[in-house]
Amino acid sequence: MKLRFLYLILFCIFSHGFSQNYEAKVDSIMNLMTLQEKIGQTVMYGGHWDQTGPVVGTDNRKYIREGNMGAMLNAMSVKGTRDLQKIAVEESRLGIPLLFGYDVIHGHRTIFPINLGLSASWDLKMVEESSRIAAEEASAEGLHWTFAPMIDVSREPRWGRISEGAGEDVYLNNEMAKAYIIGFQGDDLSKPNTILACAKHYVAYGAAQAGRDYHTVNIGEGELRNVYLPPFKAAVDAGVETFMSAFNELNGVPTSGNKFTLRDILRDEWKFDGFVVSDYTSINEMIKHGFAKDSTDTARIAMNAGVDMDMMGHVYRLHLKKLVEEGKVSGGYINDACKRILLAKYKLGLFDDPYRYIDKNRENTTKYKPEFLAKAREIAAASSVLLQNKNDALPLSKDSKKIAFIGPLVKDEYDIIGNWAAKGDRKGKAVSIFEGISEYLNPYQMLYAKGCKILGEDESGLEEAVSISKQAEEIVLVMGEGHHMSGEAASRTNLRIPGVQTNLIKRIREANPNKKIILVLMNGRPLNLSAEVDLVDAILEVWFPGTMGGAATADLLFGKVNPSGKLTVTFPRNVGQVPIYYNMKNTGRPIPDYNPKEDYKSNYIDVPNTPLFAFGHGLSYTDFRYSGLVLSSKDLSFSNSITASVEVSNTGNYDGHEIVQLYIHDKVGSTTRPVKELKGFRKIFLKKGETKTVTFTISVEDLKFYNSEMAYGVETGEFEIAITPSSEFKFKHIFNLID
Ligand code: GLC
Repeated sequence: MKLRFLYLILFCIFSHGFSQNYEAKVDSIMNLMTLQEKIGQTVMYGGHWDQTGPVVGTDNRKYIREGNMGAMLNAMSVKGTRDLQKIAVEESRLGIPLLFGYDVIHGHRTIFPINLGLSASWDLKMVEESSRIAAEEASAEGLHWTFAPMIDVSREPRWGRISEGAGEDVYLNNEMAKAYIIGFQGDDLSKPNTILACAKHYVAYGAAQAGRDYHTVNIGEGELRNVYLPPFKAAVDAGVETFMSAFNELNGVPTSGNKFTLRDILRDEWKFDGFVVSDYTSINEMIKHGFAKDSTDTARIAMNAGVDMDMMGHVYRLHLKKLVEEGKVSGGYINDACKRILLAKYKLGLFDDPYRYIDKNRENTTKYKPEFLAKAREIAAASSVLLQNKNDALPLSKDSKKIAFIGPLVKDEYDIIGNWAAKGDRKGKAVSIFEGISEYLNPYQMLYAKGCKILGEDESGLEEAVSISKQAEEIVLVMGEGHHMSGEAASRTNLRIPGVQTNLIKRIREANPNKKIILVLMNGRPLNLSAEVDLVDAILEVWFPGTMGGAATADLLFGKVNPSGKLTVTFPRNVGQVPIYYNMKNTGRPIPDYNPKEDYKSNYIDVPNTPLFAFGHGLSYTDFRYSGLVLSSKDLSFSNSITASVEVSNTGNYDGHEIVQLYIHDKVGSTTRPVKELKGFRKIFLKKGETKTVTFTISVEDLKFYNSEMAYGVETGEFEIAITPSSEFKFKHIFNLID
C-alpha cells in the first residue's frame, strides 16, 4: 500500500518529464501533502549516536512514520540510515525520504587539522581537498549533509569556537568559505559522494561579548555588514545549499528569530534560495533570551522570521499547524520552507533513489584510504606555523645523539584530532608525535617523560622530566591544551598554556641553560606565550593537527617539509589586549612609532599595542626577500584596474612555500577605515635561489565597503598599498582612486 504512494508520487513527478525542473516535481508532491506533513519536513531530530547539545527526548521512529520528521542529525552508517530511511519511504503515507546530517567539520574519519589550523595553510586547494575527502567518507556512511563550514569571523581568542573558523580576517574567511563549499558539494549534488554544505552560524556568533560562548552580540550595522556578513554572502555566491541560524542575539534580537538577517538580507538582498536550519534548540532558547513567552511563541517568531527547519526543538512539530490555523503564521511560509527542503532532497537524487547513499561496499572501502591519510599528512604540515626559530634551532638533525621528548602531548593520540572530530578515531588510529618521530630516530635516541598533565597543579612528574632532559643533547617539548578546552562551550578567560606546563618549561630551561629547546604547541586558539618565548629557541604551532598530525609534525621538525603556515589570528601579549587584531582602526590618538610611551595616546601603560605574533606571521627554514612594489599606474578609475607586483626571491638554503599578502589602506572614508585590509594572497613555491614575480590586480570591487548610510560602494581618494610576508609592515606606496 505505502509503496504505491511512492510510485504514485514518482509518476506524477515524472509527468513533468525527466527535466531538472525540480520545482514542478516538488509542487506536484506538495499538492498531495497535508499541512502537518509539510510541517513535518521542517522538523529535525537527533539520532542515537552523538549528542551535540542538550538532549530533548524524541521518539524518532514514530515521528518518521507520522511524516513528522524531514531530517535527522547524528544518525549515520549504512545500516543505521537504511533502517530509518526504510521507515520514511515505506511506512509513512507519502514516503518522502529523510535527510541525514552531521557535523563533518574538519574530516569525517580521516581527520584534518582543526579549521583554524587549516586556515593557516592559506591553501584554498588543500582546504577544498580536505572537505572533498570528508564528503567522500561521510557520504559513504549514509550522510547527505554536513553542518559546515563554520564561517564566523572572530577576533576573540577567549571564545572556544575560534578553533572552528578561519580567524579574524574577512577576506580570508570569504575565500575559505568558498573552498569548503566547493569541496563538500562538488560540481554535481546528484552524485552520491557529494553532500550539502551549511553556512553557519548565521550571524555574528564570533562577536560574543568577552568571548563567552552564546553571549550577547552588540555591533553596529556597519560592523555587521563589513565584517560578519561577507563570508555568508560569499557562501551564497558559492552556491551553498543551507544556512544555520545561530544561538546568539544580535543587537537585542536572537538570530534564530531575526527577520532582518534571515529575510531582509538573506532572502531579499542576497536572493538565497536554500533552506535555513536552526542551531540545536536555538528556537526554544528565545524563551531564555526573554524574546518569546513560550514555545508556541518561539515557533511563531522563528518561522515568521525565516527559519525553515527546527533542529531538536519540538516546537515546529507541535505548534505550527495551530499557528497557521489561527493566522499567526502564514501558510505560505510553511510552503516555502517545505519546498526548499524537498528541493534539496531532489538535488541529492533522493527522490530518484532514497537509498543512493547506502552502499555497504563503499562504506567498507572508503574510510582512511591511503591517499586520504597521505593528504592529511601533507595538509597538517602545511597548516603548521613556525612562530619562532632563534639561531635556526629547527630543523633538527637525525644525527642528534639523544633528544628528550617531554610533555603531556608527546604520545597523545586522543586530543590530537581536535575538538569536533566527527567519527575520528581517538583510540589509536591517530599518529602521535612520538610515533611520528620514530620514523626519523632510533629508539635509543628518543628519551621520553610526560612531565605533567595538561591541566592540574600536580608537579610530581617535573623532577623526572628534568632528569631526562639533562640526559639529552636537545629537547622537544610537546604541550598545549586538551581538545575539550576549545570548541563549543569552551571559552577561557586565561590564554596561557594551562596547568603547570610552563613551570615545567622553566625547570627544564634552568637545568639546561645552553641546550636547544623546541616547543611544539597543540591548541585550539591563540595563546599568550609571553612567558615561553624567552625560555625556548623555537615554537612550532601545530594546532590539533589531526589523524596524521604526529607524522606531519615530525616531517617539519626534521626538515622533510619546510614550514609555510601563517597565522590567521593574532596572538596577544596577554588577554588584557583582547580584542586585538591586525585591521583595527587608527583612533584619533594613535601611538607614534618613535615613542610608544608618549602621553595621551591610545596605548596601555604596561604593554605595547603590538601583539606577540601578528596576523599573517609565519617563519620558514629559508629566507624570502621582497623587492620594491611596482604599480602599473598610480591612478585607478572606476572603469579600469591596476596591477601591483613584487619580486620574491628565495635567498636561503631550503626550497619552500611563501604566502605573499596584499594589503590596502583606505586613508580617508565617510566612515573610518581599518589601518590595513588583506585584499589578496598567493601561495608560491620557490626553490632556493629562485625568484618569481607576484602580481595582483586591483579594481574598485576590492575597495568597496558599507558606509554610514549602509550604501555599499567606494569613495575616491588616496589608498596605501603593500605586498608583504605578514601584516607587520609600514606602507610605502600609494595609488589614487579617481573619478
Ligand atoms: C551545536 C553547534 C552547531 C552544530 C549543531 C549540531 O550546538 O552550535 O555548530 O552544527 O549543534 O550538532
